[in-house]
Amino acid sequence: MKKIALTLLVTGACTFAMAADGAELFKKCTSCHGDKAQNKALGKSAVIQGQDAATTEKQIQAYKDGSLNQYGMGGLMKGQVATLSDDDIKAIATYVAGLK
Ligand code: HEC
Repeated sequence: MKKIALTLLVTGACTFAMAADGAELFKKCTSCHGDKAQNKALGKSAVIQGQDAATTEKQIQAYKDGSLNQYGMGGLMKGQVATLSDDDIKAIATYVAGLK
């Protein structure tokens, strides 16, 4: 029994770590924002490279709940972030803050 519980615990921890890997999660953002978040997405957005994590997190949460639309393309961003969990969003925001 003990062995089974331990295995479950380890597997669970790994899944969690993978789910919140900012670098991995950011891969689906690079087509518009650039590998290093250095681009204005579709020529519209601000460059978010190195932007502080708290700001990015707030913006992504606001796109997710549909309350942010800065350049008329908030709906498009909503589609990009709709399935991200709070942990995913934190991980992405932290990753982007460290990019240069
Ligand atoms: C299909 C292109 C596209 C993809 C993919 C995309 N974005 Fe965006 N992003 C945009 C556009 C366009 C805007 C401007 C939206 C608006 O009008 O507010 C934007 C805005 C943003 C902003 C706010 C920047 C500002 O101007 O203040 C953040 C943060 C952001 N995106 C993060 C992400 C993250 C994280 C992902 C991946 C999960 C992602 N985006 C994927 C196009 C994209």
